[in-house]
Amino acid sequence: MIANPFLDPDCIRDALYGDAARIAQRTSALRRAKISGRHPATVIADLASAGPRGTVVDIGCGRGTSTLALARRLAPPRLIAFDQSAALLADAEHRLAGHAGVEFLQGDFHAIGLADASAMVIVAAFCLYHSPHPATAIAEIARCLVPGGMSITVTKSADSYQTLSEVIATSGLDLDAGNRPSLYETFHSDNQADIVATSLHVQQVIHDEHHFRFADADHIAAYAATTPRFQLPGTPAEIAGQLKTTIGNGPLETTSTVTYVVATRP
Ligand SMILES: C[S@@+](CC[C@H](N)C(=O)[O-])C[C@H]1O[C@@H](n2cnc3c(N)ncnc32)[C@H](O)[C@@H]1O
Repeated sequence: MIANPFLDPDCIRDALYGDAARIAQRTSALRRAKISGRHPATVIADLASAGPRGTVVDIGCGRGTSTLALARRLAPPRLIAFDQSAALLADAEHRLAGHAGVEFLQGDFHAIGLADASAMVIVAAFCLYHSPHPATAIAEIARCLVPGGMSITVTKSADSYQTLSEVIATSGLDLDAGNRPSLYETFHSDNQADIVATSLHVQQVIHDEHHFRFADADHIAAYAATTPRFQLPGTPAEIAGQLKTTIGNGPLETTSTVTYVVATRP
């Protein structure tokens, strides 16, 4: 069995989220490729605005994209951005400068350093798939919510960006690319609601189809180079060069489903 780098604590801390510039480059390459699909931060803020008023926590906030949307849309009295990466929390703090009532808390979502029943709304977007046991993090979210409080968890389908993996394999850049574990292996569109239901009452499940079109080999390489799913030789320019000589410089279309689960604490 091939080890899943997305569940390796060292890989998560260093290669994946130790550097805000790498994650910004990855997000930017994906955003340029986006053809359709609602922006997740907007959907999260819309869903949260229907929740109870009070303290809001953004678990696994990363660079603070959803935190920023929550601050703008809800302006809650207390907004806690929570993540284990000091580098990404620092970037989030920079991006949220000027918003009142925002706190930044470093920690592990398996043992959230907040009091019982201290939050009204907790968001955990695109992060719980880094846990080998996401139900433990869901139980922590439930502990921190007040009864009647709302959780919004978000993940993607396990087959997200599959055609990209196929192209990386076909090009000979990484022959095993299609067989490597998905980033979303432990917490994905099809098991998210069942895992959330282990500690919370599921109220709503929303599946949003996203379509992407990478313009050319350079665009594919800019994104592929940022994921440890692939074992790629060289720089993005070298990766693009090999793509051009093997499969050409044409565009690549791919898809992903983004799934939102809204739940409440009983
Ligand atoms: C893909 S980013 C998601 C960022 C943000 N939620 C968004 O929607 O843009 C995943 C985040 O999860 C964080 N993370 C991974 N494992 C974690 C853990 N055990 N405890 C806390 N944060 C964790 C990473 O540091 C990273 O910032």
